[in-house]
Amino acid sequence: MPRILACCLATAALALVPSTAGPAGKPLGAGKVVADVSQAPSTQRSPAESPLPPKKAIAEVSEAEEDEVRRKVAASAEAAAPAVEAPFKDAAEKKWRAPAATFGFQQDAAPVLDRRKFSTLKRPLRSYEPGSIHQAHVSREYAGGTRKYAQSMDLIGNTPLVDITSVCKPKHPDTVVLGKVEFFNPGYSMKDRIMANIFNKAEEEGKLRPGMTVVAASSGNTGCSVAMMCAIRGYKAVVITNDKCSEEKKAAIRAYGADLLISPPGACYMQMETDLADENPDWFSVDQYNNLDNPNGHYRSTGPEIYEQTDGEVTHFVAAGSTGGTISGIGTYLKEKKGDDVTIVLADPTGSVFKNYFKTGTLCAPKPFLVEGVGKNNIPGAMDFAVVDALVEVGDKDALKMCAKIARSTGLCVGGSSGLNVEACARLAEQSDEPLTIVTMLCDSGVKYLSKIFNEDWLAENDISID
Ligand SMILES: Cc1ncc(COP(=O)(O)O)c(C=O)c1O
Repeated sequence: MPRILACCLATAALALVPSTAGPAGKPLGAGKVVADVSQAPSTQRSPAESPLPPKKAIAEVSEAEEDEVRRKVAASAEAAAPAVEAPFKDAAEKKWRAPAATFGFQQDAAPVLDRRKFSTLKRPLRSYEPGSIHQAHVSREYAGGTRKYAQSMDLIGNTPLVDITSVCKPKHPDTVVLGKVEFFNPGYSMKDRIMANIFNKAEEEGKLRPGMTVVAASSGNTGCSVAMMCAIRGYKAVVITNDKCSEEKKAAIRAYGADLLISPPGACYMQMETDLADENPDWFSVDQYNNLDNPNGHYRSTGPEIYEQTDGEVTHFVAAGSTGGTISGIGTYLKEKKGDDVTIVLADPTGSVFKNYFKTGTLCAPKPFLVEGVGKNNIPGAMDFAVVDALVEVGDKDALKMCAKIARSTGLCVGGSSGLNVEACARLAEQSDEPLTIVTMLCDSGVKYLSKIFNEDWLAENDISID
């Protein structure tokens, strides 16, 4: 329908009106959007400047006009990019690198790779600092006496472990699949745990002090947690994400009062974090990809919780990785407790480089995939392959189908990485003659992706059929 297409393109063009560059180091807002260009005074916007056809022409737009709109929308997009880049121009010329493409669709593939066949990465386990990230709950001593009520920080961790065996078809009747409900954290994801640990540690060590700005690159959830922690503790937050991040996660970051930067096409958001911290001495860089207080947060909280909630009976722990903090921290804790009686399984989206690295110890070219927050195009410092015993590769289609299945049969609405994790669990459960106690992470809430993985139009655009 040419007319509808033209309207959509016009809407897209409106969203692309370039924003004005803010002061150096200050993120840019969405810019001033002209809601209806046909009503904008002609002195402000001449037909030649506008990427849109005049409003009255939309009803009778021709193919040629459509092409012209397309061309102008593309030009607008290009014009918008430098406006976002502006505060980092010098850094961009010197340092930014192109990341791998992040969109697309992969065919499913399902081998379970066993570490015994790939011994290249065998190393001693890393050691983390023992202790707990948890604050005293409900009642706590303070200057004036004993406080009776919890504060928002107290809501982090101690999440429930729920039986989700019903979405799998275990070969052995005694196999159970258990999901750690991480969207019960106040920021609706497991990343609250690592940010609590990183903020506490940085404050203790004097690296994070009152008046400072915290900067973090993130696929969205760490950004939400950083923004939340800064709101609680009174720091300014600058979060950098990329275009793959869902609108819901972007909106949540802004809701906590953080400034949000979207990395321009071709830029690496992790490098942007480093550059901004280098350029601003009073900015604290979270550096979640290399900061060992990230896995340590899970070592000190999620690992012990899983061990205790299963009475030590966990046989398999399954998690997808991005920074690797979750699998490395929990994996190390469980290995220390159970040695080879627990198998640590990395669930990996098709297209991520982890699989090849696990098999060969070398990097390969990444391929695009849809699931947010997991898989990688490099090996982060927080990822410790020494704890990984096996790897299950899961394609977008199976991961997202599992999200729908979980929502429709358990009533838990989870994000794409949780679907990917549970799909990997289902395959382990289906293959094992032995009874297993498999634990995985329900990393975040599906409400963070309502416009994507729970949206029929988005699924259809990406050639994914749920039924
Ligand atoms: C939704 C989601 N799932 C899983 C992960 C992977 O966790 P980790 O970075 O600890 O490997 C992330 C990380 O950003 C995430 O946002």
